[in-house]
Amino acid sequence: KVYQCTVSAPVNIAVIKYWGKRDVGLNLPTNSSLSVTLSQDDLRTVTSASCSKSFEKDTLWLNGHAEDISASKRLSVCVEELRSVRRELEKENDSMDKISQLKVHVVSINNFPTAAGLASSAAGYAAFTEAIARLYDLTWTPTELSRIARQGSGSACRSLFGGYVSWEMGELHSGADSVAVQVEPVEHWPEMRVAIMVASAAKKGISSTSGMQATVASSTLFQERIKNIVPGRMQAMKQAIRNRDFETFAKLTMTDSNQFHACCLDTLPPIFYLNDTSRAIIRVIENINAAAGKTVAAYTFDAGPNAVVYFLEENSSYILDALHAVSKHAEGWEESARNPTSVKIDDVASETVSSGVSRVILTKIGDGPRILSPE
Ligand code: DP6
Repeated sequence: KVYQCTVSAPVNIAVIKYWGKRDVGLNLPTNSSLSVTLSQDDLRTVTSASCSKSFEKDTLWLNGHAEDISASKRLSVCVEELRSVRRELEKENDSMDKISQLKVHVVSINNFPTAAGLASSAAGYAAFTEAIARLYDLTWTPTELSRIARQGSGSACRSLFGGYVSWEMGELHSGADSVAVQVEPVEHWPEMRVAIMVASAAKKGISSTSGMQATVASSTLFQERIKNIVPGRMQAMKQAIRNRDFETFAKLTMTDSNQFHACCLDTLPPIFYLNDTSRAIIRVIENINAAAGKTVAAYTFDAGPNAVVYFLEENSSYILDALHAVSKHAEGWEESARNPTSVKIDDVASETVSSGVSRVILTKIGDGPRILSPE
């Protein structure tokens, strides 16, 4: 008999950034963070977990490449924690099949091209954790599962919820209170739209895991950020989301992205994630907001040069026209339902942007992990 479960999980993009670990082994952060979950209709990881007597090793096939799960600390922590919970349940309940004794096979596929240069670890570990938990019939809440996914990759804990999600840093040494919670569901503010401007498909120079360790070790600006800035900003961001106050949401998002990259620059040796195209996109967004006379679009950048732009549905055609005007040759526009150009943005940065953006992905806020089978 083969036991099997297939799920999908979303990507999330932080508006208050996670950067820095206080415990590397348990993946405990130095500050809380907050993100928006993106729609799985556009970007998702689909993961199928199964177990059978005939399996010899815990194995993961990630986009077709086999990996020994026991050889990866991050993967095996997730499997072993869930397996031990299942084992306890089996002890208490005689009628339960003893599947905790079997090896698992996990097959995982991203629907977005690796060439899109998007971080996939968040959706990947969220789907991995969810699939195995369901395989084992664990009736855990997303917050409980987030504690497991966090140990795979920090940002993954926020992909267990849809909508607006915070990762509360917690205080305990065990990490038991370092979990994700939903700030508001999609329905609270469903008008949030997202344009991902792919500025480089190449793999980033320094991984977020080692980059943040270097920042923790050397940046004084970072100490100011985690002690005196992020706690208040988390509160302000939650309030902005509750009030559906886009201007405040947008200003906090851009400021926090800039401060995160400033901390990278304050690291020894300095870390540069933004490139000329990223900076040109920042200028375009500034121009869009200046032309609108208010803040209608916000940029944010993770550990790479790609821009993620947030805006509201009501301003969609205005913003997409402006972004299109500066990145006409990028792939992705042709599939979009963008309205014909109606806005002219007089923009100094357009040359740099147009040559540097290879692809645009248009999406919106979305829900949390989905069970695809068994139904
Ligand atoms: C810049 O979650 O990839 O995207 O916990 O070491 O796996 P690990 O790091 P990861 O870091 C993400 C950093 C970020 C900001 C964010 O998503 O909050």
